[in-house]
Amino acid sequence: MTARTIDGNALAARVREDIAARAEELAARGEQPCLAVILVGSDPASAVYVRNKVAACEKAGVFDYPADADPQVVMDRLAELNGDTSVHGILVQLPLPPQFDESEVLEAISVEKDVDGFHAESVGRLSQGQQGFIPCTPHGVMKMFESENVPLSGAEAVVIGRSNIVGKPMAMLLTNAGATVTVCHSRTRDLTFHTKRADILVAAVGKPRFVTGDMIKPGAVVIDVGINRLTEGEEAGKLCGDVDFASASEVASLITPVPGGVGPMTITMLLENTVISAERAAN
Ligand code: GUN
Repeated sequence: MTARTIDGNALAARVREDIAARAEELAARGEQPCLAVILVGSDPASAVYVRNKVAACEKAGVFDYPADADPQVVMDRLAELNGDTSVHGILVQLPLPPQFDESEVLEAISVEKDVDGFHAESVGRLSQGQQGFIPCTPHGVMKMFESENVPLSGAEAVVIGRSNIVGKPMAMLLTNAGATVTVCHSRTRDLTFHTKRADILVAAVGKPRFVTGDMIKPGAVVIDVGINRLTEGEEAGKLCGDVDFASASEVASLITPVPGGVGPMTITMLLENTVISAERAAN
């Protein structure tokens, strides 16, 4: 079998048309959606993510702090942004330097402006299947399933990775949609036993080309959340996912590429969450 590729750029462009129309309508009513991003330190990957997020927004501000910033200064800024009615979304880029208590910072963001969906209350709402902001990457993956009419109810889904940003919320969303979900991670024994059973396989491990064709059930839907930069050999500098696309696409029925798969959807869902927040503020 040769898998069909899901074009994340094309889907993101379609979703963004709707978001742009909603943003325009809000702007006409004097409520231009605005995102505030806090970046602490100079992690190059974080800087690239933030640049891409900001470039996608019409109105965004970046608050940039050095790696040795006093956490209180950031907490004070968050309090200010929470109270600023012209700001609809607040995002603190992770990871934070070691002097920060990440949970404390995330919980200092007003739930109404928590467009990343990382606040404990947003996570709690998601786990209970209640309405709230959903983390952007797994939300973007769900949009991909929807656009491709992938049946989730009753499906065997395997998520590789248990991060708070992707793996855990992905597992919750799939559970809420009726899938039977297994979460695998670095301590999982016999990973292939699990992955071979998956109708839907989501890889979010951060290891280049970790998932190979022999680990995949024929006809599975394979979603690659990884964004890894190769450092060695002829391909040094090139981006690749957590899935070995060449071997996986011979076994799967549907697969996402890297780049051009999940990545564009993540930023799109951030924009959607910011517009949703602005709509709530305007109504
Ligand atoms: N670090 C890596 N991915 C993300 C993300 O989606 N949001 C934030 N805030 N930080 C990240």
